[in-house]
Amino acid sequence: MKNDKPGFATRAIHVGQEPDPLTGAVSVPIYPTSTYVQEEIGKHKGYEYARVSNPTRDRLETNLAALEGGVAAKVFASGMAAINAIITMLKSGDHVVAGHNLYGGTPRLFNQVFANFGVTFSYIDTSDVANVERAIQKNTRIVFLETPTNPLMELCDVRAISDLCHRHGVEVVVDNTFMSPYFQRPIELGADMVVHSTTKFLNGHSDGLGGVVVCTKPEQAEKLAFLQKAAGAILSPFECWLILRGVKTLAVRMVQHDCNGRKVAEFLSEHKKVQKVFYPGLPDHPQHALAKRQMSGFGSMIAFETGSLENANKMLRKVRVCSLAESLGGVETLISHPATMTHAAVGEEGRRKIGITDGMVRISVGIEDVVDILNDLDQALAAI
Ligand SMILES: Cc1ncc(COP(=O)(O)O)c(C=O)c1O
Repeated sequence: MKNDKPGFATRAIHVGQEPDPLTGAVSVPIYPTSTYVQEEIGKHKGYEYARVSNPTRDRLETNLAALEGGVAAKVFASGMAAINAIITMLKSGDHVVAGHNLYGGTPRLFNQVFANFGVTFSYIDTSDVANVERAIQKNTRIVFLETPTNPLMELCDVRAISDLCHRHGVEVVVDNTFMSPYFQRPIELGADMVVHSTTKFLNGHSDGLGGVVVCTKPEQAEKLAFLQKAAGAILSPFECWLILRGVKTLAVRMVQHDCNGRKVAEFLSEHKKVQKVFYPGLPDHPQHALAKRQMSGFGSMIAFETGSLENANKMLRKVRVCSLAESLGGVETLISHPATMTHAAVGEEGRRKIGITDGMVRISVGIEDVVDILNDLDQALAAI
């Protein structure tokens, strides 16, 4: 059978993960060095100082660029450090259009850090493309999207928004953390850059922070490499190795996350203690058709409404298989309370405007036996 381009799982395991030329080691070596010896002034093996470059980091960047279909990837110390690098590529006077429902740390960075340096931000409902067109100004440089959004699971049409933005000379950045490149590849839909918190599905084991920007143009890669060197928020070699190890199983993990996610969403949508379920895989999700078109799976991020802070707390106190914790995308099921955790920084008024209630609970369905997750949720919901 002819196969011009290796499949996703093959690329995840092999691109950038070739055996070490020196020893034949199958696992990419970790290079914990801060500096590299030089033979004479200016003569070295391509590495000078670890803030600038590191062989383990190079391998991870090659791998992630291949998975998202970009020309290059640059990794940073966390997802927020990666988003920080993207906005640092702008200058005072530039304008950014952003989705009104983003991970809470993203508007915190925009409003409390970058606004002080003269970058301005407009927040809009990006599920309607017409809103994006209305928000674009002469000085707009970037439209920053999250799809699906955290935690409301709203989608935006990346292809339509990219077409529109390119007509206006504006670049599109997509935070693809929730879907991973296994289920959604924004660059194939027209996006100019993709950002991830690799802390989540890409690493997949809740044991290391990281972030990546995947870009489509060599000049973006150059700027990002400059920012790694100039600002220094780089990812450590050990963390790079953890992610390289994590992505080897990304394909199988995502298949199981999706399978469990669908079952948990169905279970919750039929449960009498649950008032509403937010999951793009459910046929009554307002953007179910777009989800089917734009993503090749629905993933395992689900939000649901328990009715009140008291109800949410009653159930969250009772979970045993699921862990009440911040974060998502690990093999273990994590359950969280957006109003007091991920979206505390958005403030009560901000949350009310976009529809994050005190009774909302978010679940990142893991890959345990799904019957154990369902039984755990059932017994916890009985406390309401
Ligand atoms: C969608 C999304 N983007 C970015 C981030 C920030 O990533 P990190 O925690 O690795 O800085 C998060 C963190 O939860 C997230 O959920």
